[in-house]
Amino acid sequence: MITLQKLISMKGKEPIVMITAYDAPFARIVHEAGVDIILVGDSVGNNVLGYKDTLPVTMEDMLRHVQAVRRGAPDAFIVADMPFLSYQCSADEAVLNAGRFLKEAGANAVKIEGGSFFAPLVERLVKCGIPVMGHLGLTPQSINVFGGYKVQGKDEKSAQFLIQEAKALESAGVFAIVLEMVAEETAKAITESVKVPTIGIGSGRFCDGQVLVLHDVLGLNPDFLPKFAKRYANLYEEALKAVKTYILDVRSRTFPTEENVFKRG
Ligand code: KIV
Ligand code: NA
Repeated sequence: MITLQKLISMKGKEPIVMITAYDAPFARIVHEAGVDIILVGDSVGNNVLGYKDTLPVTMEDMLRHVQAVRRGAPDAFIVADMPFLSYQCSADEAVLNAGRFLKEAGANAVKIEGGSFFAPLVERLVKCGIPVMGHLGLTPQSINVFGGYKVQGKDEKSAQFLIQEAKALESAGVFAIVLEMVAEETAKAITESVKVPTIGIGSGRFCDGQVLVLHDVLGLNPDFLPKFAKRYANLYEEALKAVKTYILDVRSRTFPTEENVFKRG
């Protein structure tokens, strides 16, 4: 199993590869493929549970999915996303909720969205033995404040702001920072400003690592692919074809065949 120290030491040497997974079979696949980190993202909301954003996702949803991912990938380094309102209300509640991911679901770390405002919480979680990954730029739990999925850090002022936010998280003790939809030059500047690795999604080529949503990588959502994502397969089409063939087989009595049946005696 990859360790926190190994991940941190990869900065400046080799890219860190992170991908999301939400269930046991896909966790097994991404781990066997060799990713460095599995993120059980609250993007389970849009990608699996059918919500339009991540806001409705609950602690119970997340725990169930982190448990499934751990069962599918017993040796993987798993980061659990803390869902909306599981860490914003009070530090006590945040510690309890974050701790549940380690205690009840076998996660290795948690991820929270936000910058300096959450630095005291990050410090407290780390002191309690809970490694924390930060998340800056477009933070989807604040979509109602942002007013849309807009690129962040597009001018010098917002770039400087994000650099300060990243430094605050680093001082508080995060072991890595996700940068989401940050202008490439700004993501590069942030990456050069902190000693912990940055892991980008839609944040250009110069982050220390990359993360993508598994369902985008596999082509499971035919309706939409973000500009920053890349489809490496078209499983939607594959799955559609498979089920259509099954339907044809049953209707034409081509399935089951002799080899699928049980006999008496
Ligand atoms: O929930 C998620 O998938 C994420 C990644 C986009 C970083 O937070
Ligand atoms: Na997330």
